[in-house]
Amino acid sequence: MSAFWSAWVSVIALAVILGCTWLLFATRKSEKYKESTEEKVGHEFDGIEEYDNPLPKWWFQMFLATVVFGLGYLVLYPGLGNFQGLLGWSSHGQWEEEMQHAEEVYQPVFAKYAALSIEELQDPANETGLRMGQRMFANNCSVCHGSAGTGAYGFPNLTDSDWLYGGDPATIKESITNGRQGAMPAWGAVLGEDGVRDVTAYVLTLSGADNVDSQAAERGQSQFQALCAACHGADGKGMHALGAPNLTDSTWLYGGSFEQIAHTIRNGRNGVMPAHQNLLSEDKIHLITAYVYSLSQK
Ligand code: HEC
Ligand code: HEC
Repeated sequence: MSAFWSAWVSVIALAVILGCTWLLFATRKSEKYKESTEEKVGHEFDGIEEYDNPLPKWWFQMFLATVVFGLGYLVLYPGLGNFQGLLGWSSHGQWEEEMQHAEEVYQPVFAKYAALSIEELQDPANETGLRMGQRMFANNCSVCHGSAGTGAYGFPNLTDSDWLYGGDPATIKESITNGRQGAMPAWGAVLGEDGVRDVTAYVLTLSGADNVDSQAAERGQSQFQALCAACHGADGKGMHALGAPNLTDSTWLYGGSFEQIAHTIRNGRNGVMPAHQNLLSEDKIHLITAYVYSLSQK
């Protein structure tokens, strides 16, 4: 909270406390309420009437006690941004203290596993490390890649041996740390609708589909070599450096039907894997990498 709002809240709280105190004393001092009289307030409810008397002493003292408590609370414990109070407590400070405590407790555990290589972490002796990685994967990655890492439409399966960028420990870690951006250009305008359907037919033959219009596929082949081979390779097997998928297998990020492939080619695709370097510490990414690596090693 900024100094202005801290002051704002403090001043209002103080004004309310002082106002109540004033009211308490002002009514007590007035001549009318000096002592008990037999006077009644004048209203009656079911035969019950009210005396017009000053506050009983114990009641007055309890009011005073709440005023003292209020002032004491304001001074000691406000936790309002810059006005920390004499005790220096604030909810933010408390959170930081707890995080620091957690850091102290878990740091040695993470440090122990950070000293081991991804391959060493696959050893059953280090199962605890992998399980920590699994839990962090569930918290940070499963929304997109699925709780078992098997992916979904547009989100790659991490449990198979088919990789966009590569499945060795260093490349997986790079994917997680710095993120990835797949850039498949849109070809609808370049190829025209007939061209899109020709190339789609050719892409289908690459993955061994039968009942493809072979003449269209033949026309598509030369287009593919001219426009697509730079990224997907002359054989269509893809290129890890660009994240261009292998088109010759049966694994599809965006679906393998004629219409789905035609849609990809016509409109392009831009899958984004967010960078995690500012979200997770290096030690945590290390353990998550070990877990992701283990998924495809079975
Ligand atoms: C917001 C969704 C999202 C989240 C969260 C996310 N990913 Fe991804 N991830 C993607 C997408 C989309 C891709 C594919 C990028 C592309 O199409 O080029 C990807 C790609 C990857 C790759 C590369 C796969 C390959 O075939 O080379 C790895 C490894 C990976 N993610 C691991 C993780 C891990 C580990 C986490 C958690 C720390 C994570 N991802 C969190 C969406 C996400
Ligand atoms: C600049 C490099 C580049 C060029 C050129 C390119 N692609 Fe791609 N292509 C990619 C990338 C990168 C992806 C992955 C997109 C993603 O991860 O979101 C992709 C994805 C695809 C997919 C989806 C695969 C799947 O698993 O769902 C198909 C199909 C495809 N490209 C076909 C083509 C065809 C056909 C051409 C030529 C007309 C072509 N690409 C040209 C880079 C390229």
